[in-house]
Amino acid sequence: STGRKVVITGVPGVGKTTVINASLEALKEEGVDYTSINFGTCMFEVACEQGKVHDRDEMRRLDQDIQCSLQKTAAQVIARINENVIIDTHCTVSTPSGYLAGLPAWVLNEMRPDIIVLVETDEDQILKRRLSDMSRQRDMEGYAAIKDHQRYNRYMAASYSMMTGCTVKIIKNLDYLLDNAISEMVTLLR
Ligand code: AP5
Repeated sequence: STGRKVVITGVPGVGKTTVINASLEALKEEGVDYTSINFGTCMFEVACEQGKVHDRDEMRRLDQDIQCSLQKTAAQVIARINENVIIDTHCTVSTPSGYLAGLPAWVLNEMRPDIIVLVETDEDQILKRRLSDMSRQRDMEGYAAIKDHQRYNRYMAASYSMMTGCTVKIIKNLDYLLDNAISEMVTLLR
């Protein structure tokens, strides 16, 4: 396929959707176009049609085989897009039975990303952002669990890079420094 495929990841509440939306707006003004796809939304639409869930936070608690099959369907839909595309998703998903790979081999082989971005920030800031977002059913995790998840995501990004030859870019989205994150993202995507 043609066009660049950039996968953007980060633990829930790190602010990846915020950074993506602002960056795409800035790029549009420069005449650079990306289609933005939220992987979770693609999965959610299929899961809803099949009557499996009512809200997106239920998905990570579904049986492993169901999550994998939803993942595969979403990847196939995204693989068909022949233009610059941003995929807003997760390096790994924290499920009741452990970390689930967000981009297992069957997803990577469909999507063939050029770059994987890890949006990160300090764990205490993530905790605070999750607590202030009332619209979601966030997992009750502490500082140590979030730190563990961010670290595990880096290991997994390294293995995705080994499998596909994609690069891995880490972008910090620190409190009061959202503009820095946006400007780094814009430079990367331009
Ligand atoms: P998804 O839709 O990605 O949900 P999420 O993980 O909860 O991510 P959010 O979009 O809510 O958080 P965010 O990090 O983007 O933060 P936001 O910008 O809102 O995934 C939903 C589900 O889909 C998953 O749970 C999973 O089940 C499934 N899924 C997805 N991909 C999958 C895959 N590949 N395989 C299997 N399952 C998959 O910002 C949060 C808050 O922070 C906001 O209040 C914002 O204002 C604030 N904020 C942002 N930046 C800053 C800053 N610099 N300073 C201060 N505050 C800030």
